[in-house]
Amino acid sequence: MSEDTFEPKNIIVTGGCGFIGSNFVHHVVNSHPGVHVTVLDKLTYAGNPENIAGLPEDRVELVVGDICDRALLDELVPGHDAIVHYAAESHNDNSIADPEPFLRTNVEGTYALLEAARKYDVRYHHVSTDEVYGDLALDDPARFTEETPYRPSSPYSSTKASSDLLVRAWHRTFGVRATISNCSNNYGPYQHVEKFIPRQITNIIDGVRPKLYGDGLNVRDWIHTEDHSSAVWTILTRGRIGETYLIGADGEKNNITVLREILKAFGRDEDDFDWVRDRPGHDRRYAIDSTKLRRELGWEPAHTDFAEGLAETIAWYRENEAWWRPAKEATEAKYAAQGQ
Ligand code: NAD
Ligand code: DAU
Repeated sequence: MSEDTFEPKNIIVTGGCGFIGSNFVHHVVNSHPGVHVTVLDKLTYAGNPENIAGLPEDRVELVVGDICDRALLDELVPGHDAIVHYAAESHNDNSIADPEPFLRTNVEGTYALLEAARKYDVRYHHVSTDEVYGDLALDDPARFTEETPYRPSSPYSSTKASSDLLVRAWHRTFGVRATISNCSNNYGPYQHVEKFIPRQITNIIDGVRPKLYGDGLNVRDWIHTEDHSSAVWTILTRGRIGETYLIGADGEKNNITVLREILKAFGRDEDDFDWVRDRPGHDRRYAIDSTKLRRELGWEPAHTDFAEGLAETIAWYRENEAWWRPAKEATEAKYAAQGQ
């Protein structure tokens, strides 16, 4: 296990008003007293300040701005000791409809942050995805490891892969003190209703039949977002500089199984859904081998019961309609236009 510990006191969390970034902000405030968080977030359609509302003002400051804004970074970064970079355009279907914002935020935005980390000698952690590795066949016994070659499929995953490569280059060439994590599919409260699990839950609440792409056999490796947050903190504070760590919780499930679990929780028939047009280039299966993170840094997931985590997530969406309702109509209109 690694002995070196980095003790950040004043960190910037980009995308801290999004689903996973806001969970990390809560994790830091709740579990690591003495750390101040500056959230840098543009508040796109996916960012919601409600996600971090109520946190103590002396611990968390929200700066509304764009990670591509170099002048803003020059003002903001000095005085901080780390940047934890979550901000991104994060949804595959959107990247197929319009790739441009993905190139700008995911590639140019990462470049701007790396330049700031280099200029002000700030530690940098890059939050990335398992999708950079492409996909696996359903019958392939293999899982992704840190050595798996990059083979992204979608505009989203190719921009995330590009950003990872920039981080590696800025570390090797300019000595930026960087780490990278590549995580599998997150679930939990505060996830945007465009994503698979919240979309189906909120459709059922609305009396609309859930929508399943393709043959429904595509596999995702689910992890609770709180486990993602604890893993990122572990890597930020104890990970080796220049290294990549895969984050996963052994949660492989195919989409039709997850959908049927949701339908069952609502007391609905297991076939009470619509088959819709498949996603172009749809990745077949993701699967993470997180041995390096577990062995080297001693991290373990805490939320290993998917059925329990899913039930809690469903309960959260039932109780927090005011949070998701404003985004629902526009999201479904977008899907309808795509035949999904
Ligand atoms: P999200 O879409 O819920 O949130 C993204 C946040 O980034 C929003 O608050 C948005 O306002 C902000 N943002 C977007 N563009 C910005 C810009 N130019 N400047 C400043 N802020 C901007 O995304 P998420 O699902 O929480 O994902 C967060 C990160 O985790 C992403 O980097 C994503 O690639 C990665 N990731 C996500 C998953 C997953 O399952 N969702 C899995 C692995 C990795
Ligand atoms: O693997 C990590 C990635 O997980 C992250 O990098 C992305 O930011 C995150 O969005 C997620 O990507 P996916 O494309 O896997 O997630 P999504 O929730 O969009 O879809 C999950 C699966 O469900 C996928 O196989 C497509 C399918 N799907 C999705 C929707 C929205 C459906 O069958 N029906 C739907 O309505």
